[in-house]
Amino acid sequence: MNRIEVENLNIYFSQAQILKNININIKENAITALIGPSGCGKSTFLRSLNRMHDTSPNFRKEGNIFLDGEEIYSPKMNVVDLRKKVGMVFQKANPFPKSIYENVAYGLRVHGINDEDHIAQVVEDSLKSAALWDQVEDKLDSSALSLSGGQQQRLCIARTIANKPEVILMDEPCSALDPIATAKVEELIHKLKKDYTIIIVTHNMQQATRVSKYTSFFLGGEVVESDLTEKLFVNPQNKKTEEYITGRLIN
Ligand SMILES: Nc1ncnc2c1ncn2[C@@H]1O[C@H](COP(=O)(O)OP(=O)(O)OP(=O)(O)O)[C@@H](O)[C@H]1O
Ligand SMILES: [Mg+2]
Repeated sequence: MNRIEVENLNIYFSQAQILKNININIKENAITALIGPSGCGKSTFLRSLNRMHDTSPNFRKEGNIFLDGEEIYSPKMNVVDLRKKVGMVFQKANPFPKSIYENVAYGLRVHGINDEDHIAQVVEDSLKSAALWDQVEDKLDSSALSLSGGQQQRLCIARTIANKPEVILMDEPCSALDPIATAKVEELIHKLKKDYTIIIVTHNMQQATRVSKYTSFFLGGEVVESDLTEKLFVNPQNKKTEEYITGRLIN
């Protein structure tokens, strides 16, 4: 089933058109990878899915983005609810300068929840889901900044999970991590797909093939090709896709 349907999406910043006529369907409880060269609009697209551009005064969009059939840019859409439903994990782990516990509890507190037993349970569950609990259970009061880079990224994923999102957007979540930490985060992403719809931007072709079921290839603000990952990498329909995935794309 489609969780997100993007129809004829154009995005502009001032006069510059960044995304051109994007049509993508994002399937429920599956991982979709977005690949493409630097500057092709992957992050711009990802960020449009939970309205992260709302604060850019020169942002303009045409076309539609439906989440479960509801247009997310409709005046009826509550942006706080949208961001709760569509969580985001960034390239560089960005824990708050607070304790490990408070990082995960943060979203609940922001939403006015103050039942400490409930919060403690959600913190534990989220850290377990993020495969971090065993490493931090006896130091929940330590600063999040004392964790390693890979642990910080998993903490940020735990913080996102604590909000009970339905969709998780990940913008190059492993690009600042070493191969071991990357493997751990990938393992986690793999585990999460049973419960979440995940869209991941990656420059790493192996990562796309390892973690995702579907892949969309972006180039120059357009989607060149979307398909099952296996098919797109083994038998790309477009010459540009083939050139990109084999490292031969010049422009
Ligand atoms: N807020 C903004 N205002 C103006 N231009 C922007 C804004 N955000 C992105 N752009 C432009 O949109 C284009 C696409 O950028 P984007 O960050 O989406 O690329 P990307 O595919 O994520 O690249 P990378 O792989 O390097 O992260 C770039 O030319 C960028 O300068
Ligand atoms: Mg980007």
